[in-house]
Amino acid sequence: MKISVIGAGYLGATHAICMASLGHEVVVVDIDSEKIAQLAGGALPFFEPGLTELLKKVGESKSITFTTEIAAISESAIHFLCLGTPQASGQLGADLTTLNKAFAATIDVAPEGSVVVGKSTVPVGTAERLAAELQESQKSLTLNWNPEFLREGHAVADTLEPNRIVIGANQESDTALLSDFYRSVAPNAPQFITNFATAELVKVAANAFLATKISFINAMSEVADVTGADVSLLADAIGIDDRIGRKFLGAGIGFGGGCLPKDIRAFLARADELGLGDSLQFLREFDLINQRARTRAVALALKELGDPRGKKVAVLGAAFKPESDDVRDSPALEIAETLATLGANVVVTDPRALENAQVKVPDLGYSESITEALRGADLVMHLTEWSEYRELDPLEVKKVVKNPIIFDGRNVLDVESWRKAGWKLLALGRTL
Ligand SMILES: NC(=O)c1ccc[n+]([C@@H]2O[C@H](COP(=O)([O-])OP(=O)(O)OC[C@H]3O[C@@H](n4cnc5c(N)ncnc54)[C@H](O)[C@@H]3O)[C@@H](O)[C@H]2O)c1
Repeated sequence: MKISVIGAGYLGATHAICMASLGHEVVVVDIDSEKIAQLAGGALPFFEPGLTELLKKVGESKSITFTTEIAAISESAIHFLCLGTPQASGQLGADLTTLNKAFAATIDVAPEGSVVVGKSTVPVGTAERLAAELQESQKSLTLNWNPEFLREGHAVADTLEPNRIVIGANQESDTALLSDFYRSVAPNAPQFITNFATAELVKVAANAFLATKISFINAMSEVADVTGADVSLLADAIGIDDRIGRKFLGAGIGFGGGCLPKDIRAFLARADELGLGDSLQFLREFDLINQRARTRAVALALKELGDPRGKKVAVLGAAFKPESDDVRDSPALEIAETLATLGANVVVTDPRALENAQVKVPDLGYSESITEALRGADLVMHLTEWSEYRELDPLEVKKVVKNPIIFDGRNVLDVESWRKAGWKLLALGRTL
């Protein structure tokens, strides 16, 4: 099928390349000409495991084209809108400016009878507003809302084998084309055909639940700090109950990235607009718990360092999570930046995210070499859970640092082997 993807970021580029790999003819439109040139040249503007290889394959088959010209979508049957919906500056709510502009541009040139599909994460009520605009324009186009659940770091598998498809529309018959399209992409994925509000809410409710689990265990970590309990054992012991589950109960420096934080804030803002502030009040608390995890990590580092001025802190990790180069609202980078602001000599290393981190926080020290980052460190901060760091040999690392003290911000290091090698371990919610 001829389809188009508008917005070639983490979501759009992944969706477009994966759909092209299944034999669809895909036109990708983005206003960022540099990004488009890069993609057309076979290079990804971000890191995602397995996606570069797939881009090379589909590039050779010529089933995908990249352009800055929205008019190029004029032969597509489906247009996927994959625009960013970041937190608006100085507000909790989402900034829908680029989505609104791209929607207007799309309906202007989309051919009669085609389907416009919103994939961006939006405040509930957005699709209904856009559908009303579509009706006013008197174009014979259909709008569907189809939220996306891919996880950065697993985006290719999540796109090619999604665990569910959610399609929202004004009426069920409007979803026929997109539903058939996804049956061919993912025959085994259960489909949920809903109204607009449900489709929009499935996405934000899922993210709110995940944020809640992480912040819940970090609240327990605060309690553990005061009472002497061990939050990791606590998580193991409550998570074994399958009504609770162990996933997303990793206590530590909390969640970040381009989705969870801004999505729960946008949900809160929308709830306020709807007079439902009380219903989602708990999310405000969980946002604060999440932010506090970062300040607790800084406080722990300062307790160990004393006066941080001139002390070297080696930071392992800049990305908000492993297998990604995304540093949007990264807890690791924020902690590193705060320590540097307080006078520490911070050197950050990361297998993939150094370039993005340098653009975002240019004043920090950076090193591609783990050894150079660690050399002479007074304190090591393990902040992003890359396997490279979990697999470090504590005896070897001890040879290059000044003081064998490590903060495990993700509670994943093998405590016994580090301790046996003579390290002092620090963590949130655990006395090690
Ligand atoms: N990143 C994820 O893992 C993920 C997962 C699920 C859902 N989402 C949601 O998907 C949406 C997109 O997220 P993202 O991370 O891909 O954002 P992004 O910022 O990486 O990508 C957005 C892209 O849109 C382009 N753009 C802006 N205005 C445009 C216009 N008028 N026409 C064409 N292109 C335009 C930008 O240049 C950019 O490349 C958000 O709503 C996000 O919450 C993201």
